[in-house]
Amino acid sequence: MEAKLAVIRGDGIGPDIVEQALLVLHKIEEKFGHKFHCQDVLAGGCAIDAVGNCLPQETIDVCKAADAVLLGAVGGPKWDTLPGGERPERALLGLRKELGLFANLRPAMIFEALAGASPLKAEILEGGLDILVVRELTGGIYFGERGTKDTPMGPAAYDVEQYSEGEVRRIAKVAFDMAQKRNKHVTSVDKANVLDSSRLWRRIVAEVAKDYPDVTLDNLYVDNAAMQLVRNPRQFDVIVTSNIFGDILSDEASQITGSIGMLPSASLAVGNFGMYEPIHGSAPDIAGQDKANPTATILSVAMMLRYTFGLGAEADAIENAVKAVLAQGLRTPDLFTGEGKLVGTQEMGAAIAAAI
Ligand code: IPM
Ligand code: MG
Repeated sequence: MEAKLAVIRGDGIGPDIVEQALLVLHKIEEKFGHKFHCQDVLAGGCAIDAVGNCLPQETIDVCKAADAVLLGAVGGPKWDTLPGGERPERALLGLRKELGLFANLRPAMIFEALAGASPLKAEILEGGLDILVVRELTGGIYFGERGTKDTPMGPAAYDVEQYSEGEVRRIAKVAFDMAQKRNKHVTSVDKANVLDSSRLWRRIVAEVAKDYPDVTLDNLYVDNAAMQLVRNPRQFDVIVTSNIFGDILSDEASQITGSIGMLPSASLAVGNFGMYEPIHGSAPDIAGQDKANPTATILSVAMMLRYTFGLGAEADAIENAVKAVLAQGLRTPDLFTGEGKLVGTQEMGAAIAAAI
């Protein structure tokens, strides 16, 4: 197949890890006879430095014209003092909205070779862990009305949490579709004991569930969900939740695996278009030092092949290569616990490419 990719290397370790992900993608092209035409575009702090805008129009245009977007990471201390609306992170929110990326898939799984990395006791995780957080990504408090006003307690600021039935329905469908291909269990997370937006959320999710009689639906309040995730994370298969709750719970779920440098993500639009990125940030302290773990970005390429291009065998090839390299004992600094071989970003990337 031939396809067009927009590539956003971004800031910090972004360029280091994207380089390795592209190396792996080229290996897939060679092995399976595909061609991905890649075009680099700027977003984040590097775009602020180059053109004074964290998300230039050209970037949006190139992304829209592409079949998928591969992103490294954006942000860093250099731009931390800019006002909210000008910070590199705005580029992410802008991309999500402009590209209609309403469904964010964040898998949290434990790789057998890294089972010891979790901060949870081994007995809690016996049998492994494989959770998929499905986070709504273009609605809720992130994109609701916001403003300031005067109050008797002084000036106030507010951000509105609002969800329409249509927004909830489409994200719920994604979650149930995913669950059908997994362990057929959806947990919807809300705060329906307090929030009207959550009561609407819960009602619509229950409606959607009727179309999936083979999938079990549970509802949890977000505070309980946060607690259950550390008490008994193996009870979860697919978690579907709002933008803000998903932001928080996906970080928690990733930390439970102990290997945040391993976890990919997909942000999907209607149709096959998607943006793929590691769930970790730009780690500016180790940028350009050959220390970052490229695996999450490499696994993001696997998600891209699977979800945007329907190339399951190619995606499997990457995931198996990652497992093989871990089994060989190769460890980037974030994974290294004294055993195995300590390697840098480039050696890790090269080893995974070679194992394909
Ligand atoms: C994430 C990040 C972003 C978010 C920030 C950087 C805007 O935390 O992708 O989870 O809150 O969505
Ligand atoms: Mg987050």
